Amino acid sequence: MSSGSPRLPTQEEVAHYRDNGWVHLPNLVPSSVATQLLEHAKTLMGGEAEEVKSNKPNRTSSQRTMWQDYDEPSKSDPVFDEFAHSEGLGHVAHDLLGRPVRYLQDQLLVKLPAAKGGGATTWHQDMPYLPFDRSGVAHIWVALIDIPAEMGTMRFLSGSQKQGLFGRALHDDKGDLTATHPELFDECEMSPPLDLRAGDATVHDAATVHFAPPNATDAPRWAYLTAFFRADTLFTGAPHRDTNAIPELIPNKPFDHPRFPVAYPVR
Ligand code: SIN
Ligand code: NI
Repeated sequence: MSSGSPRLPTQEEVAHYRDNGWVHLPNLVPSSVATQLLEHAKTLMGGEAEEVKSNKPNRTSSQRTMWQDYDEPSKSDPVFDEFAHSEGLGHVAHDLLGRPVRYLQDQLLVKLPAAKGGGATTWHQDMPYLPFDRSGVAHIWVALIDIPAEMGTMRFLSGSQKQGLFGRALHDDKGDLTATHPELFDECEMSPPLDLRAGDATVHDAATVHFAPPNATDAPRWAYLTAFFRADTLFTGAPHRDTNAIPELIPNKPFDHPRFPVAYPVR
């Protein structure tokens, strides 16, 4: 990996994350690192993100338009592996959550131009899908190219992470949370549209309600997501694609397994 591990969030950024459930981290990594990750993403997926590697057979038709996604690039590419499992990235998640963290997963999330069939990422939380007994999951979403708001940067309902869980919105026939929980949009302020530069990140808590508009440009939106969770989280036993094939995980026990290493502090 070219030089430059992630910078740490400032005290103000940590406070913003804890209060609002999301934060914009300009220059989380140097743009040269983003560009290197982009080159490797294109090697895996093709220059227009035509190749997907996604283990989500139950997708609705609207979900299928949200992303060309590629699960776990860190398993097949050493540059993603080094970045995703770096102590520096774990340190960022640790400082935001204020606790020891484990690595959860990584994913390339490419949003195709609307003219090529790409759609909005509808309003949802990530938490209802996870087999975790407690809150405290940080999703670090790094822009691999300059991503202006109209290309589909995320919007968040500030403070919604403190309000509870609102269901598996992405699988609800009624559509997204605007239909099932309209009151949230009066109660929580919506984050502003963000213009991101390559190497900028947004981080959101898995309980924060979020969305991304369709990509109104004519180029694919290249983003790379890594996720971290509280190291003391216990496994609930609920089915999940990241845990189904790991018989060593025991309900009501922590995720003490090499697939979910403690990312920071490293023992
Ligand atoms: C997106 O990449 O459009 C949204 C990512 C997320 O839902 O966490
Ligand atoms: Ni999400």
